[in-house]
Amino acid sequence: MGGRNIHPIKVFCLRHTCTHKTERLRVEVERERLREQSCLMMIFSLQSLFVLCTFFYFGVLPKRQTRIYRRIGPFRTNGLAKDSSILHPLTPDARPSSSCQPVNNFVFVKTHKTGSTTLRSITSRYGYTRDLSFLLSNDGRIGHFNGITLRYSSESSNFLPPLGVKKNDFPNYQNYNISNVHLKYNRRSLDKFMYRRHNLTLFTILRTPEEQWLSWFQYYKKYTKVGFKADGISEAAMPYIERLEKENGDFNQQSRDLGINDKKHFNDTLLRETVTEMTKDFNLVMITEYFDESLILLRKMMCWTFEDILYVSKRKQPMKTQFPDDVKEKLYQYNHADVYIYEYFNRTLWRKIEEYGPSFKGELRYFRQLLTKKQNECIGQNSTTNGRREFVEYHSLQNTSEFCELYVNENFQLDSKIYRKQGGIGNM
Ligand SMILES: *[C@@H]1O[C@H](CO)[C@@H](O)[C@H](O)[C@H]1NC(C)=O
Ligand SMILES: *[C@@H]1O[C@H](CO)[C@@H](O)[C@H](O)[C@H]1NC(C)=O
Ligand SMILES: *[C@@H]1O[C@H](CO)[C@@H](O)[C@H](O)[C@H]1NC(C)=O
Ligand SMILES: *[C@@H]1O[C@H](CO)[C@@H](O)[C@H](O)[C@H]1NC(C)=O
Ligand SMILES: *[C@@H]1O[C@H](CO)[C@@H](O)[C@H](O)[C@H]1NC(C)=O
Ligand SMILES: *[C@@H]1O[C@H](CO)[C@@H](O)[C@H](O)[C@H]1NC(C)=O
Repeated sequence: MGGRNIHPIKVFCLRHTCTHKTERLRVEVERERLREQSCLMMIFSLQSLFVLCTFFYFGVLPKRQTRIYRRIGPFRTNGLAKDSSILHPLTPDARPSSSCQPVNNFVFVKTHKTGSTTLRSITSRYGYTRDLSFLLSNDGRIGHFNGITLRYSSESSNFLPPLGVKKNDFPNYQNYNISNVHLKYNRRSLDKFMYRRHNLTLFTILRTPEEQWLSWFQYYKKYTKVGFKADGISEAAMPYIERLEKENGDFNQQSRDLGINDKKHFNDTLLRETVTEMTKDFNLVMITEYFDESLILLRKMMCWTFEDILYVSKRKQPMKTQFPDDVKEKLYQYNHADVYIYEYFNRTLWRKIEEYGPSFKGELRYFRQLLTKKQNECIGQNSTTNGRREFVEYHSLQNTSEFCELYVNENFQLDSKIYRKQGGIGNM
């Protein structure tokens, strides 16, 4: 569509008639030129638009997303699903099956320094919103029960009554629906106090012994005794670790929580028997390193919904410490029982995941997306460090829903709510 030249036409016409004709032609040509111009401009604009879009898609968008992910990063224990902005619809078998009954009576044996506080929040929210009774000590502590004496009914004077039972009506201090506090596990003792004692659902959680031990070491500030800083635990730790070993009370903490007595800690024959018994007793042993995966298994076992297992992880990451190999080796040696049961139940967990079937991956992805969504909905931007050591405190958004309030569980208010509901005075 080259520009048409009017001069050759002009040559063939007489002067007076031609002006008119040429003028018409000129106008026509001008019109065409304009049409051509606007067409070119349109092509040019489309091209620019395309370039802009490409730039936005590849250049700006990923950065924005990274920023968003970073913002919600700290309270994730596991990798975040990249496509978290889209919530895939549930596959039918991801819903609790209509043929199962939600489990409302259970014991979660809370182990030390394993992420168990997060799991406690989940189970507390479940029971609180359904008016279930918790086995709680009346001194506001999260369990422990004075070194555990659940064995004797007379010890019920240490508890709060279940809902609907009067204070000091001790014979009726029984039939609790839920226990999710620290106690030294002993099945026969629990049976005295739990409703559904003949069909109790039991679960617990274990963490890599090295990490668990370090977390415990930092939390109880054991290192201050020997005068070094938490981030400088290295060769200096060795003499101290060896001294601890002689005192024999500072290792195998997870095994102790599970009621595995000291005699068994270094005898594989007895440990083998122990894990066999535990497998019969415990319906599920979760693993901290695979927290979300463990929750997927828990949800199905309990016939709960995905909302029921949502959590906010408030645990601050412990200071990273690299132990030299000889220290690591000693820790593994001294924590022998913990290493044994951890490795055993990590294998069990992965076998259960395999047996779960192909829907597992999709459910895990869905759960992580839901987690991100709810965290964005419920958690305010300002986080602080809680007075209780090692916890990060998140704040609810203003005018939040009741779900969000219980979910964020600011200042562990859920503990106090449950405590007061069962007649406790003050805060837990
Ligand atoms: C909770 O325990 C009480 C007994 O204390 C029992 O009557 C009630 O049915 C239990 N609730 C559920 C939902 O199982
Ligand atoms: C034990 O509890 C589970 C889950 O609540 C239930 O499916 C099962 O039928 C119960 N078994 C007995 C013997 O009550
Ligand atoms: C481990 O315990 C078994 C059973 O009590 C006992 O026969 C065996 O001698 C113990 N092994 C060691 C190394 O103490
Ligand atoms: C747990 O078991 C899985 C599967 O066998 C293995 O890949 C993983 O390394 C184990 N995790 C830890 C922390 O030992
Ligand atoms: C955090 O934000 C919430 C809601 O905006 C507000 O109520 C609260 O006082 C804030 N807390 C801190 C410590 O700034
Ligand atoms: C919070 O809710 C109350 C009552 O529903 C309403 O009056 C108030 O305007 C709300 N405030 C904000 C900041 O949304």
